[in-house]
Amino acid sequence: MKLFLDTANKELIKKWILTDLVDGVTTNPSLLSKEGENPKEVLLEICKMVDGDVSIEVVEKEPEKVYTQAKQISQVAKNVVVKIPFTFEYLPVISKLTKEGVAINVTLIFSLAQAMLVAKLGVKYISPFIGRWDDIDVDGMDLIENLVIMKNNYEFESQILAASIRHVIHLHQSILMGVDVATIPPNLLDKVFAHPLTLQGIEKFDADWRKLGKEELF
Ligand code: E4P
Repeated sequence: MKLFLDTANKELIKKWILTDLVDGVTTNPSLLSKEGENPKEVLLEICKMVDGDVSIEVVEKEPEKVYTQAKQISQVAKNVVVKIPFTFEYLPVISKLTKEGVAINVTLIFSLAQAMLVAKLGVKYISPFIGRWDDIDVDGMDLIENLVIMKNNYEFESQILAASIRHVIHLHQSILMGVDVATIPPNLLDKVFAHPLTLQGIEKFDADWRKLGKEELF
C-alpha cells in the first residue's frame, strides 16, 4: 500500500519525508491557495523533494486548453502525474493523454460508474473522495469498497487512490478494503502518532524507569 501526503505545504512534506513513508504527494488548487505562495515554484520544489508521484491539477477549463496544460504539466518533472477532474468533456482528452503515455490521476470521483469509465481509459490513478460524501451524510467508504471490488473483478490496472480522507477511521477502513494508495493530510498522520494510549504508555514507562534511579541502562 502506498501513502501519499495530501498537502502543498513544503515544511510538512519535509517533516514527513524523513520517516521514509512518503510514496508521493497530491496537490490541488485549494491546497495551493492555502499556502499563498507562487504555485509554480511550490510545485517544482515539491517535485524535487519527493521520491514518488506528485499530482498537479490542471486549472484550464476548455478541453483543448486542458490538453495543452496537461502536456505542459507532464513535462515539468519526471515524477509528475497530471490531475484532471472527472468531466464528460475531458474524457477524449484523458484518453488521448493516456495513449501518449501521460500519467493521469482522475479526481473528483463520486460513483462507481465514473470510476469504471476512467479505468477503461487506462488512467494511472482514480481518486474517489470519501469526506465530501460524508459531508452530505452519505458513507463515503461504500464508494471505496465498491471501487476495490470493481478493480478486482476486471483486473483494471488503474490504482485506487483514496482521497478526501478526513478521519483516522477512513484510513483504517481504506487499509482493510485494500486500496492501492491513500492520500493523507499531514495533520491526520499526526493523530495516528498521538494515540492517547501510546502517549500514556510512554509516560508510564518513563516514570517507572525514573523510579529505578539509574542513569544508564547499560
Ligand atoms: C486529493 O487528491 C484531493 O484533492 C483531496 O484529498 C480532497 O480533500 P478534501 O475533500 O478534504 O478537500
